[in-house]
Amino acid sequence: MTDIVESAEVSTLLAELTRMTGRTDPYPRYRRLREISPLVRADDGAIVATRHADCVAVTRHPKLGHMPSHMFDFVLPGWSEHPALHQLFTSILNLNPPDHTRLRRLVSSSFTARRVQALRPRIERMVEDLLDAMAGETDFIPAFAFPLPVGVIGELLGVPEPDRAQFQQLTRDWSQVLEVIDEDVLATADPAARQIRDYLAGLVAERRREPADDLLSALVVAGEDGDKLTEDELLTMAGLLFMAGFETTTNLLANSLVALLHNPAQLARLRDRPEIAADAVEELLRYDSPVQLISRVAWEDVEVAGVPIAGGERIVAYLGAGNRDPQRFADPDRLDLTRPDNAPLSFGGGIHFCLGAPLARLEAEIALPALVRRLPGLTLAGEPVRRDSLTLRGWTSLPIKS
Ligand code: HEM
Repeated sequence: MTDIVESAEVSTLLAELTRMTGRTDPYPRYRRLREISPLVRADDGAIVATRHADCVAVTRHPKLGHMPSHMFDFVLPGWSEHPALHQLFTSILNLNPPDHTRLRRLVSSSFTARRVQALRPRIERMVEDLLDAMAGETDFIPAFAFPLPVGVIGELLGVPEPDRAQFQQLTRDWSQVLEVIDEDVLATADPAARQIRDYLAGLVAERRREPADDLLSALVVAGEDGDKLTEDELLTMAGLLFMAGFETTTNLLANSLVALLHNPAQLARLRDRPEIAADAVEELLRYDSPVQLISRVAWEDVEVAGVPIAGGERIVAYLGAGNRDPQRFADPDRLDLTRPDNAPLSFGGGIHFCLGAPLARLEAEIALPALVRRLPGLTLAGEPVRRDSLTLRGWTSLPIKS
């Protein structure tokens, strides 16, 4: 039977992952943690899972979920007064059934596969326009990795073009609550969340007066059997869709480009055979996932990996580690754009499986082949600057030249 190992080495490895030393390249640390034991215990008491099969089990387990709000009241008194925490804890990302089921059904009825597929020609146009404007030396983040996804989700939701740019910094400030919740983080995350919410409230009021052909207007009227999103739910949902809609996809594009530049033979394969784009995106999601971990709480005594876990215990699934598990992936540290039987954990699983996965995949499948085809001489033009975060893994600056 697996032991949940607690040791000085485990503490050191996990502590390194909270700092740039470990975040720069977390993969050797994940490997070492898995060698010590597939389940280890962090200093704060959380259990950490690093195997692919265990990460899948955590996302799908019917008795592992999120802390109910009355427990938050106990652990983080006054949380609902913080706009940043209100946005996080009342969103579907953090709700449990039946509230989660209800909200997910309401949003899914508007955020349909057809609505996503209909965006294909627009995304192709945006990609070409952004590439037309990219010549010589440039920073890939502001030139491409941010404007493409924010443009796509902005059009889908109905956020006017001139208003979009401000959300890059606002979302970065808000999303630090996904890394750690403390006074320093809240001091910047709260005003950012308030500003995003006030902005969206204005937009929702406009759509109520004059509906448009966009997702926000669809969410305003979404409902069945008299059930509708309340104003508060609508603003939280719109905020999550908008921020999740570009932040993670920006990171997918940038992480993918770095991985390809470090593996020129794979980059050449994608350039010569654009038809492998869908497989390539799955492999790039696996190789350096934009979301590295998710966390859950056991609602009652359960078993994971044959190990008993007591009700109330917290368990963190390191998706980024499971994506490099040699028991699931042959030669896991190798980038292989046509890896057979791929199954990255990067969009999570179970009832919280990423709602935006089809959109993120579509954007990357169009963008990456176009990028390597249109800019054949692409190289790094300086040291990329890593974002100091682990839950969301990405870059703040990525200088390139072509
Ligand atoms: C590469 C890009 C993306 C990655 C890696 C990603 C990753 C994830 C992951 C891991 C989860 C599950 C979290 C958990 O189980 O705790 C999730 C949930 C979610 N994602 Fe994404 N995401 C991406 C893009 C998007 C986009 C483009 C949108 C919206 C347009 C989006 C909207 C959501 C929403 C609404 C949820 C919550 C679903 C629920 O709780 O039922 N994501 N995402």
